[in-house]
Amino acid sequence: MFDKFYRLNYWRLGFQSRLYDLLTPEAYRESARRCVQSVPVKKGQVLLDVGCGSGLLIEGMNDRLDFGLRYLGVDIQISGLIRAQNKAEKEGSVSLFQADFTHPLPLKKESVDIIAAHFSLYTIADRERRKKILSGLVELLKPRGLMVIVNPSREYSAKKIIRESVGLVRERNGAFSAWVKKLFLYPLTTCLGLKFIEKQLKADQWHAFSFNELCEEMESAGLVVVHSEPVYAGCAHLVTGRKVQTQVAYPPL
Ligand SMILES: C[S@@+](CC[C@H](N)C(=O)[O-])C[C@H]1O[C@@H](n2cnc3c(N)ncnc32)[C@H](O)[C@@H]1O
Repeated sequence: MFDKFYRLNYWRLGFQSRLYDLLTPEAYRESARRCVQSVPVKKGQVLLDVGCGSGLLIEGMNDRLDFGLRYLGVDIQISGLIRAQNKAEKEGSVSLFQADFTHPLPLKKESVDIIAAHFSLYTIADRERRKKILSGLVELLKPRGLMVIVNPSREYSAKKIIRESVGLVRERNGAFSAWVKKLFLYPLTTCLGLKFIEKQLKADQWHAFSFNELCEEMESAGLVVVHSEPVYAGCAHLVTGRKVQTQVAYPPL
């Protein structure tokens, strides 16, 4: 009962209270950075962030927005979109809209160059439903467009995520910051967030993927896998797929 209430309101409460951003472990930010940086961009291209939440991807993208990338973020939670708007330094290049990605999104087919789905599609536990959503998203991609998906792996472990996060903070901000995060912030991250997610994944309320399963789902939606890497302390898979060009069927001569 409590789990169901928490699951349904998890992101709304997190975005509204700002705890989502405050408690985000460094390894998750690094995964968001990899998600953005692993995709080459050209000037004028459009990137659609599906389930953009509070816009963590925007944080790692400012150089690309300066370079001429256009960012389009969609989420069901208005509270997340408000936070994302605050992160958008270059207003002109960032657009946000509210929609439910389990229904067709109000965008033209073949209008998007890149789609990123960073920890969003795993919230759909049912495989057939997920496949249908994925196929709908692939329709929005231009021919040879790229889709980068990051989803939790079957090895998801709060302990590993925190260990890697403390290491990353130590490297980047020094031992004192790492110590503060380890003692004061990350215990909250663990009990309010990571342990809850771990439980939902074990119960298959949200879905933890094997690498092959994620690749297979992407391929059956019309993508060819072009890149993959473990992220988030090995607790997630990052897989990039390129849209297969539609075959033109010529009549026999
Ligand atoms: C784990 S959060 C990830 C947010 C962001 N991508 C990030 O990495 O910080 C999952 C996001 O998916 C969004 N989401 C879940 N189901 C959705 C749906 N049916 N339509 C649109 N957004 C959805 C949630 O509101 C939430 O913001």
